[in-house]
Amino acid sequence: MLNMSKTTPLLQTLRSFSGYRSISNVSIIGGGLMGSGIAQVAAAAGNDVNVIEVNDKALEKSKAIITKSLERVAKNKFKDDPSKAASYAPSILKKISFTQDLGVVKGSGLVLEAIVENLVAKQKLFKEVELLTTDTTILASNTSSIQIKDIALHSNRKDKFAGLHFFNPVPMMKLLEVISTQETSQDTYRKLMNWGQSIGKVCVTCKDTPGFIVNRLLVPYLVQGVLMYERGDASTTDIDIAMKLGAGYPMGPFELADYVGLDVILFILQGWVKNHPDNASFVVPKTLEKLVQEGKLGVKSGSGFYNYDKKGK
Ligand code: CAA
Ligand code: NAD
Repeated sequence: MLNMSKTTPLLQTLRSFSGYRSISNVSIIGGGLMGSGIAQVAAAAGNDVNVIEVNDKALEKSKAIITKSLERVAKNKFKDDPSKAASYAPSILKKISFTQDLGVVKGSGLVLEAIVENLVAKQKLFKEVELLTTDTTILASNTSSIQIKDIALHSNRKDKFAGLHFFNPVPMMKLLEVISTQETSQDTYRKLMNWGQSIGKVCVTCKDTPGFIVNRLLVPYLVQGVLMYERGDASTTDIDIAMKLGAGYPMGPFELADYVGLDVILFILQGWVKNHPDNASFVVPKTLEKLVQEGKLGVKSGSGFYNYDKKGK
């Protein structure tokens, strides 16, 4: 597959004559943990980006997440050049518009949603987006666990509908899962693979199945960690140490669950248990339910399996 950032001028000219248009203008709906990270990497790769949120407070939070992360990137990228490091975040932020106006999706080559993991909310959102865009716009979801065909169920543009599953923290995680449904066109798929590569990700493909590749393996592993702790086999700390030092994982299952968000993991599992009751890998551990009920959602809320200071871990 071609990397758009490395195509030759001749190839680019041929593409422009043949009507091929790559994606350079992106709207991200939902500027939380994931949407902010996606907006950041898209803008850093030169895209014009809109971040669309429900209120000013959420927009400010998104801008703060992106600014902080860009400053961390800059500190590494320009170790010996403090003036370049200082101007990096403002220069990338210039490429991002923060807005509550969903109407801005109109001119976008790609509209990607990263809102709450809820099927009805995602379907409703895409209904509105379809009314505001033409069929030159590709529609994509960053869902962790819902099948793309279900999100696209009421769409009139199923050939333009796909999954783009990023990983947290987006600026650091190299992977992007690109998911086609049976109705996604080859042209849509190719454009998304090219776009993913152009923003610096390594793209893999999986059928439109629950959890795609990573979450189908990762989430049942996190569940097994919690069940092991519930049985009293080992403490959370020892399980985390064991998986880091014995299996080479960067975080143990409890650190990772807190990092992803316990609410996100609970949503994923509840959906899978409901839709695939016969799959023994899909169970909701009681401790997970209890922590979420108590508002202990992990790093983002200040506590989960572990406690974090105000700034988070
Ligand atoms: N933005 C920019 N830079 C960052 C960053 C961020 N959000 N996070 C880390 N960095 C960079 C910084 O340069 C940082 O140095 P400073 O602290 O001096 O700024 C450097 O990385 C080291 O970071 P940390 O000391 O915090 O820790 P680390 O070396 O362990 O790296 C990590 C952090 C990359 C998150 C690593 O622990 C890791 O890979 N953890 C596993 C994450 C994972 O598995 N993610 C997938 C979750 S599943 C998912 O996302 C799918 C789903 O649908 C739920
Ligand atoms: P989050 O709670 O941090 O952010 C969601 C944001 O969407 C919130 O800021 C909320 O205000 C906003 N929002 C909700 N409805 C909206 C609407 N109609 N219009 C505009 N904004 C709206 O959640 P997150 O962790 O960023 O997850 C977002 C999506 O990405 C979910 O589908 C999740 O499953 C998926 N995902 C999460 C992770 C993770 O590690 N957290 C990883 C990969 C994928």
